[in-house]
Amino acid sequence: MQPVRLLLIGAGVIGRTHIDRIGRDPHLALAGIAEPSEAGKVLAQQLGVPWAASHLELLERTHAQGAIVATPNASHVGMAIDCLERGVAALVEKPVADTVAEALALVQAQQRTGVPVLVGHHRRHNPINSRARSIVQDGRLGRVVTANVMCTVLKPDAYFDAAWRRQPGGGPVLINLIHEIDMLRFLCGEITEVQALSSNAVRGFAVEDTAAAVLRFASGALGTVVLSDAAASPWCWDFCAAEQDQYPRQDVQSHFIAGTHGSLSLPDLALWNYRGDRSWHAEMTLEKTFVHKADAYSRQLQHFAAVIEGREAPLCSAVDGLRTLQVTLAVAEAARSGQAVSCTLPG
Ligand SMILES: NC(=O)c1ccc[n+]([C@@H]2O[C@H](COP(=O)([O-])OP(=O)(O)OC[C@H]3O[C@@H](n4cnc5c(N)ncnc54)[C@H](O)[C@@H]3O)[C@@H](O)[C@H]2O)c1
Repeated sequence: MQPVRLLLIGAGVIGRTHIDRIGRDPHLALAGIAEPSEAGKVLAQQLGVPWAASHLELLERTHAQGAIVATPNASHVGMAIDCLERGVAALVEKPVADTVAEALALVQAQQRTGVPVLVGHHRRHNPINSRARSIVQDGRLGRVVTANVMCTVLKPDAYFDAAWRRQPGGGPVLINLIHEIDMLRFLCGEITEVQALSSNAVRGFAVEDTAAAVLRFASGALGTVVLSDAAASPWCWDFCAAEQDQYPRQDVQSHFIAGTHGSLSLPDLALWNYRGDRSWHAEMTLEKTFVHKADAYSRQLQHFAAVIEGREAPLCSAVDGLRTLQVTLAVAEAARSGQAVSCTLPG
């Protein structure tokens, strides 16, 4: 079997993670690196793959089957459409775009060309979430009633040396919340309305350091997400799910989904239910699933290859990227305006 040939556009932090994962998988091959910096050119030389500053040039030269768009957010949609128009499937990093209108343009380009798009919400590829989704969809929780998420962390002072991180847009709502919204949509379905509060009381920057969102799901379930980058706390998926080596692992939970017949915490996949009487006076039983560990970024690329070969449908489509972005922006708007914001699909 020939390896699936993938072009990387943007060899920054996440782009290099993708290069590393391609290198670990004999079914994948790096077709080239499009990256304007000198460091990108040097990296391509070291790896012995074609390089160009422009992704258009490399799309012409390499005949890659897929491209990974790992550039700054504002360029995602234009580059992804360039790929689709040349028949090259695109894995677009999250957030899929800066605005709902741009994300919608990508959805339309995908539908027009019929070339697949996968959006890089990598948590969907974590085996813990694959199992959690089966538990919810198989009805083990009954009807989902609530979902609560904690994402409370302490970002070091040096993190805020970059001026854009002190300005609106650089805080936990637009940087961190999008992962939680996508995971909640993956596990519990569509979100139709949000309310939110934000605060800058700790750091005093123009951007929020803390926010709380209340979500209404299409199913009627309600959810909350509490976020802060000024809290000395272990309760965050990035710490307890141990997806990235850069954070020490914390043996706690960050996500709690409660249903009429059971409840589930994550990432420990602890499932609580009543074996007899369903009553708060009755004893509860705890069942735990221990999944095989697997790297979410590697699984995402293996899935991308399967999408390119027509063996699987995208687990995170362009429409998913759009919906997740829309809800995240709605939380920012709700916090700004103090009003509830509806999240119906545009167009
Ligand atoms: N899924 C994840 O876990 C995850 C993690 C980090 C970042 N991201 C996302 O990935 C994207 C990139 O983030 P990052 O942290 O790697 O940023 P980064 O700044 O480290 O890397 C971006 C790279 O894109 C390059 N670039 C800029 N314009 C380009 C162009 N026209 N053509 C080719 N390359 C160009 C830059 O030179 C830079 O090397 C963002 O959208 C971010 O939100 C996702």
